[in-house]
Amino acid sequence: MNIDWANLGFTYIKTPYRYISNYKDNKWDEGILSEDDTVKISECAGVLQYAQTCFEGLKSYRTVNNEVVCFRPDLNAKRMADSAKRLEMPIFPENRFIQAVIETIKANIDYVPPYGYGATLYIRPYMFGSNPVIGVKPANEYQFRIFTTPVGPYFKGGVKPLTIRVPDFDRAAPRGTGHIKAGLNYAMSLHAIVDAHNKGFDENMYLDPATRTKVEETGGANFIFVTKDNTVVTPKSNSILPSITRRSLLYVAENYLGLKTQEREILFDEVKEFQECALCGTAAVLSPVGKIVYNSEEINLPSGMQGMGEITKKLYDTLTGIQMGRITPPDGWLWKVE
Ligand code: PLP
Ligand code: COI
Repeated sequence: MNIDWANLGFTYIKTPYRYISNYKDNKWDEGILSEDDTVKISECAGVLQYAQTCFEGLKSYRTVNNEVVCFRPDLNAKRMADSAKRLEMPIFPENRFIQAVIETIKANIDYVPPYGYGATLYIRPYMFGSNPVIGVKPANEYQFRIFTTPVGPYFKGGVKPLTIRVPDFDRAAPRGTGHIKAGLNYAMSLHAIVDAHNKGFDENMYLDPATRTKVEETGGANFIFVTKDNTVVTPKSNSILPSITRRSLLYVAENYLGLKTQEREILFDEVKEFQECALCGTAAVLSPVGKIVYNSEEINLPSGMQGMGEITKKLYDTLTGIQMGRITPPDGWLWKVE
């Protein structure tokens, strides 16, 4: 193994073991750890024809005390069950999900980056319909897998604030399905992300497709804003992914930093009144936004383009402090792996 921990990006690096369990005849098999990183399925598999697939994303950290922990895997297990239900897939039992995540981390323990490099082990559980399906209907055989990959920052440039834009077309996530982590939702957002990058933006701010007046989320993260009087505000919408990072940050804001929080509808028109803006997610962690462009309108956040705003920085330091074992976590947030 020869990994430059300090300079990892958000890319796939193959690790030795992945977890595999198959669903057939209405039940999951007991599951194995495998060294085979390939998937062999029918040309007519449900996932290939109708994108019957969903996934999760979570991280494992090596703490300041050299313990290996996993952050809130119970919430990913629950969200994956919700995604599976919405896609007419069988649920991989939540207790087995957590167990399998921990087993997979243990099997790849040398790939959990050392403390202090700003790198983590990203864990990707996913599930797909594997048997041939030709009419539009759910598969009846599925594979659940988990692979891991060491990662660095999601956005290049470290803590340099991002410039994002509102695209003049929708993400085209079918209404009401944006709240699950499903392959098709992400495939439909690829055009918007490529178009944003081609035009020099880091990400998209999607508005609600029905009225195009309310802030929703970005391609891979939720939004948080900070008002001029230091209230942490985040969009309420049932068509955004219920971010585990966001839920954790709201808890940190209230219980560790004594800040007020609000989850409410946010009109694009009020974004110019906010002091700070950031993207939050497992991959994004908390990435500051400095500028938002919508057609000819340009909003320059008062927190500026030099670094994180004051409250964003406090939230970031507290959350990552908890994850890295420097700050006492709330009960149940860190699951010990080793
Ligand atoms: N929104 C989208 C579309 C995402 O892909 C993600 C990442 O999983 C998030 C939000 C953030 O969710 P979480 O904090 O659970 O990683
Ligand atoms: C995550 O943060 O885990 C995500 O899934 C975002 C992106 C990598 C799809």
